[in-house]
Amino acid sequence: MKTKQFSRQDFETAAHFIATRTQHRPTIGLVLGSGFGEFADAIQDADILPYGEIPHFPRSTVEGHKGRMVIGRMEGQTIMVMQGRVHFYEGFTMEEVTFPVRVMRAFGIDTLILTNAAGGLNPAFRAGDIMLIEDQINLLGLVGNNPLMGPNDPELGPRFPDMSTLYDRQLRHLAISVAEQSGIILRRGVYVGLSGPAFETPAEVRMLRTLGADATGMSTTNEALVARHSGMRVLGFSGITNEAIDRIDSPRVTSHEEVLETGKILVPRMITLLRGILQRWDEVA
Ligand code: HPA
Repeated sequence: MKTKQFSRQDFETAAHFIATRTQHRPTIGLVLGSGFGEFADAIQDADILPYGEIPHFPRSTVEGHKGRMVIGRMEGQTIMVMQGRVHFYEGFTMEEVTFPVRVMRAFGIDTLILTNAAGGLNPAFRAGDIMLIEDQINLLGLVGNNPLMGPNDPELGPRFPDMSTLYDRQLRHLAISVAEQSGIILRRGVYVGLSGPAFETPAEVRMLRTLGADATGMSTTNEALVARHSGMRVLGFSGITNEAIDRIDSPRVTSHEEVLETGKILVPRMITLLRGILQRWDEVA
């Protein structure tokens, strides 16, 4: 295992830098996954910081991920939005993958909304659906790649954090209510986080279903764990960009292009949902 790379000082340095570049002081953070970057374009009074300018910040290399922080106002709320994230499969360490979450916490963010593109494992799910993440399986963490491994700084969170309710109940209820009100079908289920970058084999798809997962992806679980460790409330949505292929010799294949294409169909739904949640934020603030 790699030794710990970042200290509280590094998170604070990055957070202070951001504070010098914006007057906004948001408490809501949002991470936009593959294809969802467009949401940030509607932010008002936006201050934009490319990740490359923020001390220690990792830079994304994946198509569909812009790699900048957008801080501003939407639906009466002030938010800090990450337009793109970095992934473990790009070769970043777990610490690098979750560095931005620690920085957001140091900045004063207390609620983190995570979005991702995911493959649908649940046979009832269709490409274009949105799934509310009710719980997660951090498959990577279970086999020794948990982002909380290594020395623990008790100022950041406990050594053995409880994860019995990782995704906040009140926020989940708000999301369900907003979806109903907006006529959006909101699936609910368990997200399983894997490393990627290869998509799953049919045997792996069937295995993941057996484990109790409804959607699969290559992000989110690590950020969620670190956010919860630091005491943040967490809300998560998966945009189902493809139906995972569960038998060999299928005429279909899974591709990043398909993920980005379906992402486009999902964007308006995801934006409606997120806007609706921000409009009713006072109910959970
Ligand atoms: N598997 C893993 N990650 C994904 C998928 C998938 O099918 N679709 C989008 N991200």
